[in-house]
Amino acid sequence: MKLLSTQSSQVLAGEIALAGGFTIIDVKFSRFPDGETYIRTGEISDSVILVGSLFTSEDFIELLLLIDACTGADVTLILPYMGYARQDKQFNAGEPLSARAIARALGVGVSRVFTICIHEESVLAHFGVPAQDILVSEEISAYISAMHLNNPLVLSPDRGAAVFAKKVADTCGYESDYLQKTRVSGTEVRIEPKSIPVAGRDVVIVDDIISTGGTQATAAEMLYQRGASHMYTICVHGVFTTGAYSHLKAAGFLDVVCTDTIERCCSRISVAPAVIRALKGYI
Ligand code: R5P
Repeated sequence: MKLLSTQSSQVLAGEIALAGGFTIIDVKFSRFPDGETYIRTGEISDSVILVGSLFTSEDFIELLLLIDACTGADVTLILPYMGYARQDKQFNAGEPLSARAIARALGVGVSRVFTICIHEESVLAHFGVPAQDILVSEEISAYISAMHLNNPLVLSPDRGAAVFAKKVADTCGYESDYLQKTRVSGTEVRIEPKSIPVAGRDVVIVDDIISTGGTQATAAEMLYQRGASHMYTICVHGVFTTGAYSHLKAAGFLDVVCTDTIERCCSRISVAPAVIRALKGYI
């Protein structure tokens, strides 16, 4: 089996290739004089795995071009981070259903799609081909277990991520709970105090995504006020817009960790083992 990737997912692609014993197809990326993207791949086999997160608009162009370069092959698309997946509802007249638009475009020319911790599973139906979401709770649990925390508590910042946090905590054998979050605006959230006993405990907040970091920073402030000893935050998708990483460190998080669905300096958890588990039975 051969594998190829976009530029921004090449480290994760390398990890998946290593774990799965796949051969990497070399891809040359350059630009035409007008700035348009030029791609040339090595030889494409009958079946290929294409790995590429959609984080920037350039990622989207590279994915479309790579899918087209694989025409005629059986393509398994691994979309570790799917940008626009959070825009899965129309809130005002005239708005596109962005998640649907992206899924429809990327579903053409591929045989199946795997996403990782997608914000809303209903988006999978829009690809038009079999699509499955991969959970990476095992990988996050393994990381947390190795942190040697004192009287640990795993928290999710809202009810939406509570099942995920509980799964992570259960595997570690730790207690879990969730906070009551209300979003005030795109950058501001309100976290209601909840009677969670945090005094003297090491608290890890787990979430699917950190974007502005507002959710986590607000939670840290409240939990430190209630006596938490140390705070850590782990997310799957480290989007980190507008100085979010610094904002989180300033809020008192001892460590800020994400997976490699978006390749960051703090991507200390690889989703590659979870991808290999999910691929079994398909390739
Ligand atoms: C929301 O439902 C998600 O699980 C995250 O909590 C949210 O997207 C994080 O956004 P931010 O980092 O901007 O607070």
